[in-house]
Amino acid sequence: MEKILITGGAGFIGSHVVRLFVTKYPNYHIFNLDKLTYAGNLANLKDIEDKSNYTFVKGDIVDAAFISDLFAKHDFIKVIHLAAESHVDRSISNPLEFVMTNVIGTVNLLNAAKTAWKNHYASHRFYHVSTDEVYGTLGETGMFTETTAYDPHSPYSASKASSDHFVRAYHDTYGLDVVISNCSNNYGSYHFPEKLIPLSIYNIKNNKSIPVYGKGENIRDWLFVEDHARAIDLILHQAKTGTTYNIGGHNEWTNIDLIRLLCNIMDRKLNRESGASAKLITFVKDRAGHDLRYAIDSSKLQKELGWTPSLQFEEGLERTVDWYLTNEEWLNNVTSGSYKTYYEEQYVKR
Ligand code: NAD
Ligand code: TYD
Repeated sequence: MEKILITGGAGFIGSHVVRLFVTKYPNYHIFNLDKLTYAGNLANLKDIEDKSNYTFVKGDIVDAAFISDLFAKHDFIKVIHLAAESHVDRSISNPLEFVMTNVIGTVNLLNAAKTAWKNHYASHRFYHVSTDEVYGTLGETGMFTETTAYDPHSPYSASKASSDHFVRAYHDTYGLDVVISNCSNNYGSYHFPEKLIPLSIYNIKNNKSIPVYGKGENIRDWLFVEDHARAIDLILHQAKTGTTYNIGGHNEWTNIDLIRLLCNIMDRKLNRESGASAKLITFVKDRAGHDLRYAIDSSKLQKELGWTPSLQFEEGLERTVDWYLTNEEWLNNVTSGSYKTYYEEQYVKR
C-alpha cells in the first residue's frame, strides 16, 4: 500500500481531501498529521475514522525532530500539505504564529522530504496547497493567473507567499518533485465558524448580528470545497513536476451581496418573514489592509487537466446552509468548544 501524508487533515479543506482520498483510493494508506489547533476537529472525519486505510497522527509540523522521525518511519510516497494557520484576522493579532506554522512548518516538511526521498525524487511528490491571497489585491478588472507577481498584504498571505517560495526553491535547488496550487475562497461543510459564510449562517440562525467589514464592497471568488478537493486529486496525479495551478470557480461576489443572498436562503429555510434575517446585517470597522478584490483565472487547470467546478454558487450555498442546519450538533460543539474533547474520547481513552 502506498502511504500518503496529508497535513492539516482535521481542518476544513483537509478533512474533505482526506475523505476523498480514503474513500476513492483503497490502495493508498492515508496518514492525517494534524496538531489539532482550535481549527482542527476530528469530528470532521467521524464517518471515515474507522477505515482500515486511514491513520491519524497528532503532531506539530513546527517540531523538526518529530517530522523527520515520521518520514524515517514511513515511506510516504506523496505529501499533500494543507496544515496552516488560515485566518487573516488572527494573523493581524498574532503574526508570529503564522510564520512558525506556515513558513517554518513548511520548511521542516520540505527538509524531511528532501532527506527521506534522496534517492528516489522522481517517484515521490510534495504537493503544497496555497491561496490566491499571495497575489495581493485586484482593482475592478483583471484576474490572477499563475504568472501574476506575488504582492501579499496580510501577515497570513505573506506567510503563505513565503512558503510557496520555499517550495519552489526546493524544486529548483534540490530537484524535489513539487506542485503548488493557489485557490480562491472555499465554502461548504465543516468550515470553522470564524470565516464569513459559516459565521453568518450561525449568527442568522441564532438571531445575532452579522458583522460586515467596511461597506461590504470587497469581492471574493467562492469555490465549493469539494471542487477544490477534486482539483487537488487531479493535480497530484497528473501535473508535471514544478507546475503551479490556480483553482477558482469564476464566481465573484461582493460580501454584502453574498450576505443578502444568504439571508434570503435562511429566511426561506427557517420560515422567517422575507427580509427578517437581513435586519441582522451590521456594518463594522474594516479589516486593516483589507484586500479589495480576488478573482482567479483557472483556465490553465481547465484546459490542461480538464477540471471544471461542479456547482453553481446558489446551489452550493443552499446545500451548505442545509448542512449546517442539519448538523446542528457539529455547529454547537464547535461554538461551545466541546469539540476539543473529541480527540481525548476517541483516541486517548479508547
Ligand atoms: P483550517 O484552519 O480549517 O485547517 C488548518 C488545519 O491545520 C487544522 O486542522 C489545524 O489543526 C492544522 N494545523 C495548524 N497548525 C498546525 C501545525 N503547526 N502542525 C500540524 N497541524 C497544524 O484551514 P483550511 O481553510 O482548511 O485551509 C487549509 C489550507 O488551504 C491552508 O494551507 C490554507 O492556506 C489553504 N487555503 C485555504 C482556503 C480557504 O478558503 N479556506 C483557500 C485557499 C487555500
Ligand atoms: P474570510 O472568510 O475571513 O476570508 P478571507 O479574509 O481569507 O477572504 O473573509 C471573507 C470576506 O468577508 C473578507 O472580505 C472579509 C469579510 N468578512 C466580513 O465582512 N465579516 C466577517 O465577520 C468576516 C469573518 C469576514
